[in-house]
Amino acid sequence: MSPSDPGVLALELILAKRRNEQLGSHDIESVLAGYLLGTVGEAQMAALLMAICWRGMSPSEVNAWTEAMISSGMRQDLSGLSRPTVDKHSTGGVGDKVSLVLVPLVAACGAAVPQLSGRGLGHTGGTLDKMESIPGWRAVLGPEEMAGILEEVGCVICAASPDLAPVDRRLYALRDVTGTVESIPLIASSIMSKKVAEGTRALLLDVKVGSGAFMADREEARRLALTMIGIGQAYGVDTRAVLTDMDAPLGMAVGNAVEVAEAIDTLRGGGPPELRQLVLEEAGEMLHMVGLEADPAAALDDGRAWQKFSEMVRAQGGDPEAALPRGDTLATISASSDGFLHRLDARSIGLAAWQLGAGRARAEDPVSKVAGALCSARRGEWVVKGQPLLQLVGDEPARLEHALQALEGAITISPSPAPEHVQILERLGPEDLA
Ligand code: URA
Repeated sequence: MSPSDPGVLALELILAKRRNEQLGSHDIESVLAGYLLGTVGEAQMAALLMAICWRGMSPSEVNAWTEAMISSGMRQDLSGLSRPTVDKHSTGGVGDKVSLVLVPLVAACGAAVPQLSGRGLGHTGGTLDKMESIPGWRAVLGPEEMAGILEEVGCVICAASPDLAPVDRRLYALRDVTGTVESIPLIASSIMSKKVAEGTRALLLDVKVGSGAFMADREEARRLALTMIGIGQAYGVDTRAVLTDMDAPLGMAVGNAVEVAEAIDTLRGGGPPELRQLVLEEAGEMLHMVGLEADPAAALDDGRAWQKFSEMVRAQGGDPEAALPRGDTLATISASSDGFLHRLDARSIGLAAWQLGAGRARAEDPVSKVAGALCSARRGEWVVKGQPLLQLVGDEPARLEHALQALEGAITISPSPAPEHVQILERLGPEDLA
């Protein structure tokens, strides 16, 4: 029988996980409840997380861990909305502004998209930080306001309520400072607990693979996607995934306001072709999941997606027509020789933008709206010596030195043609679960 003292139970679970034994569902629920109440301390939870990092979790342990996180808070009920709900989650990448275009686009095609987003931490940006460069826009909405906008407009991008999976919030902060973020069961349960609690009926996961992603390795990304699909299935959330390339930044802009500007171009029917293509592929998947047959390309080209974005921004206090803030050009990186651009390393460019202030080192740090990087050539393209490849922009020239250091070795030019890159590496669904 499990001990009733949460501290004693936590110790037993740490020792059991160290020995690679299965943890029982009830014990997982008790230890996470104890952590939220303060009867299990930070040291014990950190040790348990580290043991999980090394030993992993079985599918039934992952489901129990996810359930304990969901039941630590409220669960939204969106079943009363007049349109089918479908959401998308990206594991995060450099220049990844897909949600800014995809969310209003899918809403313009008839679905309701309840996008609860996060802020950036480290070299990958956060959707909320990007959207906050729009003058007046508010990320924080109450659950009723969110549901109201969702019904009226069809989409919302906002911060998750602190009442959704509150234990995940605490655990994520602890994982961040204890080297326990990179664990597939912990990442999967963290993401899925919030998506299940949010109340969406269907979910598309964009699992990024490559130097700028959480998962540099394709097999690991595949395991993460399948673990999340399995959790979705357990909760009746129709969950599918695409594994997508993140070796180079997505599109030309990396930062906050610069990414919003690029997203707006795409919403108006322009934008970088690779961004438009990925958005259309993901929109097609999402609409198919909820049985809608609209043509997303038409909605981008005839202005409906842009109109939906404008309605959403206005509903959240922002002005979609207002000029976005702009930074100064702090440096331009040019090609060192003629040749094909083989590598424009996503991680290095993300780190450079972060060094300029586009991202934060700690959750409470502010971010610069205007800092970032603008690519002026694409991977695979022929470039000539002296041609500008990358502009660094920002508002604090003193940060430039570290940004330039981050870019060392980021660009490779070669006389031979570069291999072709595809955006979508693989599509996965419940049929791929073993
Ligand atoms: N995003 C989350 O919400 N949780 C993780 O653990 C990692 C990324």
